Amino acid sequence: MAVTEDLEFSLEPSTSPVADSERDRLLENPGFGSLFTDHMAMIRYTEGDGWHDARIAKREPIMMDPASSVLHYAQEIFEGMKAYRLADGATALFRPEENAKRFQASARRMAMPELPQKLFLESVEKLVEIDRQWFPSVDGGSLYLRPFMFASEVFLGVRPAKEYLYMVIASPAGGYFKSGASAITIWVSDDYSRAAPGGTGAAKCGGNYAASLIAQAEAIGKDCDQVVFLDAAEHKWVEELGGMNLFFVMDDGTLVTPPLGGTILPGITRESIMTLAREEGLTVVEQPYAMDQWKADAASGKLLETFACGTAAVVTAVGTVRSDDGEFTIGGGGPGQLTEKLRRRLVDIQCGNAPDDHGWVKRLFEA
Ligand code: PLP
Ligand code: COI
Repeated sequence: MAVTEDLEFSLEPSTSPVADSERDRLLENPGFGSLFTDHMAMIRYTEGDGWHDARIAKREPIMMDPASSVLHYAQEIFEGMKAYRLADGATALFRPEENAKRFQASARRMAMPELPQKLFLESVEKLVEIDRQWFPSVDGGSLYLRPFMFASEVFLGVRPAKEYLYMVIASPAGGYFKSGASAITIWVSDDYSRAAPGGTGAAKCGGNYAASLIAQAEAIGKDCDQVVFLDAAEHKWVEELGGMNLFFVMDDGTLVTPPLGGTILPGITRESIMTLAREEGLTVVEQPYAMDQWKADAASGKLLETFACGTAAVVTAVGTVRSDDGEFTIGGGGPGQLTEKLRRRLVDIQCGNAPDDHGWVKRLFEA
């Protein structure tokens, strides 16, 4: 069947949006992930009929049959992206086509139908437009967007479902880390793996996060902000954090990051940072980096900085690495110069304070 790329979105604005004064109050301190806008986007998929019923409607609970296949076999994927208010008052997305492509790649891995990129982009853009009053007033605030899709077929047989529901919700966001610290402390998971070769590590599926939660809980119990996972086969190579990619700044002007190979999420921030770092004259290498080497390089001073990056966390310095064997500090334990420089360059482009030489910023509508 031909893939439907052109769907008309029906628009059903909420008749009970949050009052202006209440919304303004909420937006003064949005935090991360617990405040939501008035609307959501939805598109249904049925095998045979393809994509249909595209809607922008009031955000509200959805009815689900207890036998909906996602509740049993976790056929679910998602994306994380942000809409920004630019310095000139316009609203923009950052490299949204990359999210649309990764959503398709995740769908392929999870045996789900691929949502045409055009529909992905339209759904996101229409939601941002209708909820444009929901940008946080705080410094560094943005509108975090969460497109996701799950198997909605009512069926307990184990096979790819024949019905799916795709949705987008929006959440005004401030900083990701509660501590607000300038550098985070991370916990090395010795007992648990996030992803194995042949598994789903490169897909943005809910199951990866479910598998990581016990280690994240352990990290919190050890007073750490995030967990760092090592490779599943040898438990030797540093892979990524529960929700961010990692970079290592060396004293010879090299920037090291673990290679993509199926077990790591191909971060859009990661790719953007590699481009910006090359422009800063750094040599960027994607190569395996061993846990022992990390510790040794931090001790010898060969390693100057480590930082994590992702949509939610932007660019965040890693100050301390803790494990059952003790802990070590990187540089002075705070954000290093290069981390700060790359963070600034990225944020300046995202917010329209610096020229967008790469065509990364997609303006949606003017002030
Ligand atoms: N790695 C994981 C496991 C993530 O959840 C994320 C966040 O989406 C990232 C890396 C960073 O990806 P991106 O920069 O595309 O947000
Ligand atoms: C994101 O950065 O968008 C993510 O999905 C990561 C998650 C930890 C919030």
